[in-house]
This record gives sequence, structure tokens and C-alpha cells, in this order.
Amino acid sequence: MYNIRKVRENLYWVGGGNDRRTSLFENIHPIPEGVSYNSYLLLDEKTVLLDTVDWSIGGQFIANVDHVLGDRPLDYMIINHMEPDHAACIEEIRCRYPDVKVIGNKKTFDFMEQFGFKINENCVEVKDGDTLSLGEHEFLFISAPMVHWPETMATFDTTTGVLFSADAFGTFGSLDGKLFNDEVNFERDFLVPARRYYTNIVGGKYGPQVQSLLKKASNLDIKYICPLHGPVWRTDMDYFIDKYDKWSKYQPEEEGVLIVYGSLYGNTERAAENLAIRLADKGMTNITMYDASKTHVSYLIADAFRYSHIVLASATYNLNIYPPVDNFIRDMKALNLQNRTFAIIENGTWRLNLGS
Ligand code: FEO
Repeated sequence: MYNIRKVRENLYWVGGGNDRRTSLFENIHPIPEGVSYNSYLLLDEKTVLLDTVDWSIGGQFIANVDHVLGDRPLDYMIINHMEPDHAACIEEIRCRYPDVKVIGNKKTFDFMEQFGFKINENCVEVKDGDTLSLGEHEFLFISAPMVHWPETMATFDTTTGVLFSADAFGTFGSLDGKLFNDEVNFERDFLVPARRYYTNIVGGKYGPQVQSLLKKASNLDIKYICPLHGPVWRTDMDYFIDKYDKWSKYQPEEEGVLIVYGSLYGNTERAAENLAIRLADKGMTNITMYDASKTHVSYLIADAFRYSHIVLASATYNLNIYPPVDNFIRDMKALNLQNRTFAIIENGTWRLNLGS
């Protein structure tokens, strides 16, 4: 059984599967919506595989590659990103196609060595701006360090305008048979997971690096964006590029208020509710409230990138900020969130007893 989609002439999606079993992506972020791992195979005079997949769908992936290649050898494997959700099957591919040339940059091969992968004469190092001719198609390599790991790069097919963008423009969410952005209701089904994926994983911390990639991409005539997770973009790309531009500049998407509270017995929660009612009374109805104790911080981070105003309401705990709220604050700092208006509600009943 093989599960393949044709992206365009001679280019195939061979990821072939969706992961609905893993509960926590990177063992930290809940993914109730699942996730796809995308890999692409181009058949030209030379054959080339772009990235592999997570081990969880390795069996399906290998069957797909084998089917698309038929009797042909695999000439090249391009490694745009070494995180194991894409790199787990590299050595399996090399075992099955021992003559395959592996293309990466210096850091790619540093990582491969550290992961215990074989470095040999079949490893071909490329730099930013290098090209590779495959016959009709020519590939341009674009370094994109820290989008999301130091070795990350993108590959652009200058013949067809296909950008293989690594993690950039990816999203959580299983594809369920669909592949293209125009086959899904992206705004309804994928925007929330895409925002959570970007802000927590790919670029929350690395806005300037994402801006640098967007600048390089603006000089390319892009017809398709093929990310490593989620739908392939072939229409309406400006919609998603604009989201990336805003997120990476730390600009809010919407005028609105995010209220995050931490409350032991509901009293701080009541104060937060009271604020929300007063805001609505005054005409600000774009309000979202979360209990920090019950909401995974990745959801809070995503909405912190979405809204212009953030209210933190916290009870006192161990003479300090309530830990779930404290965790959110630390995560916002770690992810470099900027350009927001903050308000703070402190429930400091104990402070009276301490005389401070
Ligand atoms: Fe989807 Fe950074 O790996």
C-alpha cells in the first residue's frame, strides 16, 4: 500500500502519513489535531528526495519512495532540516540506496555526526546561494539558520518556482487525505494550529531570522510552498506570508484583549471576569480568557502573539506569582514577545499580613 499525492508534474508528496498517536510534539506541545510529516520526491534526469519523516510513519514513507522511484535509483537526498521529526529516516534511506548523495550544509553534517550518522564521500556540502542541476530542474540552496534549528535551509526549484521551506510555513494538524491549501479551510481548521506551531516552535524566539528568510523569499518567483508540516501552498500565499510577517515582527494580528488568570479558589478568577465584563461594557468585545492552570502554555503563547493587549491576573503562591502564570511569563520572555500593552492584577491578600 502506498499513500502518495502528486504536487505537480514529476513532483510527489511521499510523506504519506499523519501522526495522530503522538500526544506531545517534541514531548512538550499537545497536538490533539495530529500532525503531518511531509517529504517530497522529484523525478528529473536525476532523482531527488527532499527530507525524510518521523520514524512513526517511516514504514509508509519507505514504501512510497520505493513506489515512486520504481526501477530508478535515488541520486540525491537533500536535508533541509535535521530535527528528528524529519531526519529520522535518513540512515534507512542510505541503507536502501547506498549510492545516494546526501546534500546539506556544514552544520547539517556536524549534526549528522553528532547523531551517529555516517559521514562519507557521498556527503556533499553546499553553501547559501549554491545551485544543483538535476536535468530540467535547477535547485538553489538558501540558508535559513534558526528557522528553526541552526542548520536549517530552504531549497528553491528555479525552474518551477517550488520553495521547499523546511519548518517555515508549516502547521500542526493532520491532512486527512488533502494536501493543498485550496483543499482545506485553512482559516477555520489550520490557522489556530499554525499560529501555535509558529509561535512556540519555529519562530517565536527567532523573529529576525524569519524576517531574513522572508526577505530572501521576496526576491523569488514562488509558485508553490512545500513545508515539512501541513498543507502545500499553491494559491493565496500572501495570506500566510502576511501572518508570518506580522508574527516575526512581533506585531499583534488583532486589537483585542487576552486575559490569563491563575486562581486557587476562584477569587482572582472573579476579578478577571469582572474586568472582562467591564471591557465588554465599554465596547471591547474581542476578549479571550484562559485559566493558566488548565490551559497548556503553548495555547497562551499563541494568543499572546495574536492580541494587542494582555492582562495577567495572579494569586500569590509561596510569596510569589502563582506558578502557572509565572510559567507563562517566563515563556513569553523566552520567546521574545514584544510590542504588547500589559496590565497586571495581583491578588495579594497575604501581603497585608506580611506588613509589606
Ligand atoms: Fe518539524 Fe524543527 O522540525
